[in-house]
Amino acid sequence: MAQGDAHTDDRDEDLVVTSLRRAGCVFAEDEARILREAAVSAVHFEELLAARTAGAPLEHVVGHVEFGRLRLQVGPGVFVPRQRTLLLAELTVHAVQAARSSDTPTPVFVEAFSGVAPLAASVHAAAPQAEIHVTDIDEQALAFARANAGADAGVHRGDVLAGLPHRLRGTVAVIAAVPPYVPVPHASLLPREARDHEPSAALFGGDDGLAHARALIEQSVAWLRAGGRLLMELHAGQLDEALRTIDLEVFSIAHHLADDGQTVVLDLTAAARTCPIRTRATDRSCDGMPS
Ligand SMILES: C[S@@+](CC[C@H](N)C(=O)[O-])C[C@H]1O[C@@H](n2cnc3c(N)ncnc32)[C@H](O)[C@@H]1O
Repeated sequence: MAQGDAHTDDRDEDLVVTSLRRAGCVFAEDEARILREAAVSAVHFEELLAARTAGAPLEHVVGHVEFGRLRLQVGPGVFVPRQRTLLLAELTVHAVQAARSSDTPTPVFVEAFSGVAPLAASVHAAAPQAEIHVTDIDEQALAFARANAGADAGVHRGDVLAGLPHRLRGTVAVIAAVPPYVPVPHASLLPREARDHEPSAALFGGDDGLAHARALIEQSVAWLRAGGRLLMELHAGQLDEALRTIDLEVFSIAHHLADDGQTVVLDLTAAARTCPIRTRATDRSCDGMPS
């Protein structure tokens, strides 16, 4: 809503803030301002306010989320990028920049489980020379990813990495992801907004939360180039179990703990010669893999 049209007297403003506060919005004044900025008319403002006080996430209501210096498009029915993912975004940008060399002027970057593609958008903004691809199983999320990841990004629908073009096998410099990693038994601990308004496929990763993470680690080997990196956000409490699945002949391992003490970024570097990862469940040879 244009500033001039946004006029409300103090009494109206108090009512708006009070109704937001009653609906459980802790930062009610800030939210009132954000709703006003997003509204294109007084009627529209009332609609946005009604949606928010009915419990819809603010980002779904206004259609965007601030992510670092970026404003990303989001909307109803998709996962809203979290501020805790800024650590992964920063590490991802550094990894892509470090992958750039005279031999590789356009390193290939893939955001897996991309949702609306906050990591690809970060790479696009800070390392525009990279060849960017995003992949997700949800077409609704990919519609937003198309808007956020840059006009040249490849947008691919598929299970884990299966939707990527075959020509990328063995060429990817960096894969980064926030897989769905909430353990199903922890569902009741999630904020109500997430449970009620984000798709469960975007949140849960099986009984221990690591089902998608394991699939990504296993599948990444075929797509990474020698020395390529896989960066993945998890909960710090999942780190030990995740590390147990990794074959040290295939990846060298680092991790980075966020300031919140709860978020961790697993940072895997593929060995010079990659082969399918051996987990407790699989023990495969390197035959037929790119070297
Ligand atoms: C936690 S969200 C992360 C989105 C984004 N990276 C972010 O941080 O905002 C996980 C995403 O994984 C997608 N997803 C769930 N299962 C999948 C699968 N089997 N293959 C590909 N994507 C999947 C969901 O659609 C969702 O968009």
